[in-house]
Amino acid sequence: MNIILIGFMGCGKSTLGIRLSYRMKQPYIDTDKQIEHQEGRSIQEIFDTDGEAYFRSVETGVIEAFIRDGLKDHVISTGGGMPVTKDNIPLLKRLGVVAWLKCKPETVLMRLADDRTRPLLQGDDKADRVRELMEFREPFYRECADVTVEVDNKPIERIMDEIFTKSKGVWKRKKRMRYEQDTYN
Ligand code: S3P
Repeated sequence: MNIILIGFMGCGKSTLGIRLSYRMKQPYIDTDKQIEHQEGRSIQEIFDTDGEAYFRSVETGVIEAFIRDGLKDHVISTGGGMPVTKDNIPLLKRLGVVAWLKCKPETVLMRLADDRTRPLLQGDDKADRVRELMEFREPFYRECADVTVEVDNKPIERIMDEIFTKSKGVWKRKKRMRYEQDTYN
């Protein structure tokens, strides 16, 4: 079963993804790292040279390729804007169980206070930017998520336990739905 982690920048997708991959003994993929590798340049450079729209198209291409290649039994962490491209939502849902790491703006601001790697959070008005962007994105995360876990002030082991508990049944249901689609279409 693929587990896909979504959520705002700084909510802990990468850290949790690596820990989950150890615990589940499944390989780990970070879509941002994959994009940087594919493009041979950093996310910041991609934004600076070709703009956000281009970056978003590469993001979608990465998920499409996972589906085309039949990727399975991986832990996948995604960039914070992945579900905001509407077309990505059905693709992510098809790829596996989608877990939303939900966090408060304060958590993000504390974790990313000195961050220089997120193009969307540079500038002086970081606090406003995080609040606005988070509010705007919430409906997209909610729609995309199969399970939601609030992560603020929670130990990582507990977050993982919650993901497992809440994911029970979701995967079986998804597999059954796919089987029925294959059978009847
Ligand atoms: C982005 C989040 C980043 C990265 C890019 C855009 C976003 O990933 O994909 O800077 O739009 O939220 P993280 O969520 O891993 O920081």
